[in-house]
Amino acid sequence: MSQAFDVVVIGGGPGGYIAAIRAAQLGFQVACIDEWKNGKGGPAPGGTCTNVGCIPSKALLQSSEHFEHANKHFADHGITASDVKIDVAKMLARKDTVVKQNNDGILYLFKKNKVTFFHGRGSFAKAEGGVYEIKVAGAKEEAITGKHIIVATGSNARALPGVPFDEETVLSNDGALRVGAVPKKLALIGSGVIGLEMGSVWRRLGADVTILEGLPTFLGAVDEQIAKEAKKAFDKQGLKIELGVKVGEVKAGKAGVSVAYTNAKGEAQSLDVDKLIVSIGRVPNTIGLNGEAVGLKLDERGAIIVDDDCKTSLPNVWAIGDVVRGPMLAHKAEEEGVAVAERIAGQHGHVNFDTVPWVIYTSPEIAWVGRTEQQLKADGVAYKAGTFPFLANGRARALGDTTGMVKFLADAKTDEILGVHMVGPQVSELISEAVVAMEFKASAEDIARICHAHPSLSEATKEAALAVDKRTLNF
Ligand code: FAD
Ligand code: NAI
Repeated sequence: MSQAFDVVVIGGGPGGYIAAIRAAQLGFQVACIDEWKNGKGGPAPGGTCTNVGCIPSKALLQSSEHFEHANKHFADHGITASDVKIDVAKMLARKDTVVKQNNDGILYLFKKNKVTFFHGRGSFAKAEGGVYEIKVAGAKEEAITGKHIIVATGSNARALPGVPFDEETVLSNDGALRVGAVPKKLALIGSGVIGLEMGSVWRRLGADVTILEGLPTFLGAVDEQIAKEAKKAFDKQGLKIELGVKVGEVKAGKAGVSVAYTNAKGEAQSLDVDKLIVSIGRVPNTIGLNGEAVGLKLDERGAIIVDDDCKTSLPNVWAIGDVVRGPMLAHKAEEEGVAVAERIAGQHGHVNFDTVPWVIYTSPEIAWVGRTEQQLKADGVAYKAGTFPFLANGRARALGDTTGMVKFLADAKTDEILGVHMVGPQVSELISEAVVAMEFKASAEDIARICHAHPSLSEATKEAALAVDKRTLNF
C-alpha cells in the first residue's frame, strides 16, 4: 500500500520546503520530495537558493568583500595589512559549510514540523479517485499519494544556443560558484543580477572581468537614476560592462574560451578568457515531472500555467516559485508557498506582487520596491520625487562608504509612496522599511515624521522622504 498524504510537495527549494512546513503547521499530513544531492550523494534540500544560488553567492560576496577591504580600505583606518592573500580553496570550503548548515537546518525543520521527507525525483504517475499518485525515484522506488500536490520544481540556468555548460570553462551559476583558482581573465554574458554579483566576486579577487550585455541600457528594470549611479561605481571599480553587444561564435577549449561579438558601434570584436559565465536568465524546470501523465499545462516558456492563486489547470494541483510566472526570487517563492498552504486549509492566503522587494548584493548594493520613475511616467501617474545622498549621512561617512542615495517616489496628490529605490551601503537591509511602509499604504510624510536612530543609514531613508516635500534637514 502506498503511503497516503494530504499534501505532497514536489521540490524542496525555498518555495517547496516553506509550503511543506506551513501545510504541516496547519494540521495536514505532508510529504516533501527533493532530489538534490550533496557531494556524498546524500540529501541537500533548499534547492537552487541554498545549494547554488542565494546562499553560496552571498558567502562568496562576503569573503571577496573582506579581501577587497583588507587590500584597499584598511589603510584608510590606519590598519596595515601587508601581503594579503586569498586561499580560494578555503573560501570555497567555508561557502560549502554555510550551504551544509542550511541543508541540515531544513532537514531539522522537517523533523520538527513532522514533514515526511523523501530524497529522490518525484513524478506524476496517475490521478484516480480524487487523489494523485506520485512516483518517488530515489535509493529505492516507491509510490505515495496526495489529495493536494504542490509543484515547486524551480528553474535551471539558460544556456546560449549551441554552447552547453561544461562547468569547466563555460559556467552556469553552479560552476561560477566552484571556480578553483582566480581566473586571470573572466567574461560574463548578461549584466543582470548574476552577472553583476558573480562578476563582482571574481573582480574583487583579482580577475580581469568583462561583462557583455545584449541590451543597450544598463539594468533596464531598475530606476534609471539609481542604475546610472550604480554603473558609475562599477566603472570606477574596474568592472568592465559593454552594453548593446551581439554575441556571436563561442569557442570553448580546455585552455579557455574565445567569444566573438559585435559591439554597440557594430564593430566585430573577440575576447579570449580563461572562463566564461553565462548568466542570461533562467528557464522553468519540469524535467522528469511527467506532468503529461495527468495533463498538467505549460506555457510557451515551459512555465506551469497558474492563476493568481497558484492553481494549475488540474484540480488540487498547485505550482509556486520559479516554475511559474513572476519574478524568480526566493522570497516570492516562499510567499507563494505559505499562501497556497493556507488556501488548501480554506484560508485567504495572499501575495502582494506590488511589494516584492529586489536586491542586488553588489557593492554598492542596489535595492528597490514598487514602481520606477520611468514606469510612473509611462503609466501617466503624477508623482513627486525626493532623493538623499549617502554623502550627507553621518553613519555612511563613519563607515567610509558614501556611494549612492535613497530615492522616494510618491503620488503627487495623496503623497502615497509608489516606489523606493536605493543604491549604497547595506541597502539590502534598509529596503524592508520601504516594503513595510508600502504594505501599510504609508505616505512619504509618514516616514518623514518617524524617529530614526542616529547615526544610522536609515536616516537617509527618512531624509529622502523629507526630500519629497523639499525639506531635507541635512542636505
Ligand atoms: P528551487 O530553489 O530551484 O528548488 C527546486 C527544487 O526542486 C530543487 O532542489 C530541485 O532539485 C528540486 N526538484 C526539481 N524537480 C524535481 C522533481 N521532479 N522531484 C524532486 N525534486 C525536484 N533569489 C533571491 O531572492 N535572493 C538572492 O540573493 C538570490 N540569489 C541567487 C543567486 C544565484 C546564483 C541564482 C542562480 C539564483 C538566485 N536567486 C536569488 C533566485 C532563487 O534561487 C530562486 O528564485 C529560488 O531558489 C526559487 O525557489 P524554488 O523553490 O521555486 O525553486
Ligand atoms: P537576469 O534576467 O537578471 O539577467 C540576464 C541578462 O542577460 C539581462 O540583462 C539580459 O538582457 C541579458 N541577456 C540575455 N540574453 C543575452 C544574450 N544572448 N547576450 C547578451 N546578453 C543577454 O538573469 P540572471 O542574471 O541569469 O539571473 C537569473 C535570475 O536569478 C534573476 O533574474 C533573478 O530572478 C535571480 N537572481 C536573483 C538574485 C538576487 O535576488 N540578488 C541574484 C542572482 C539571481
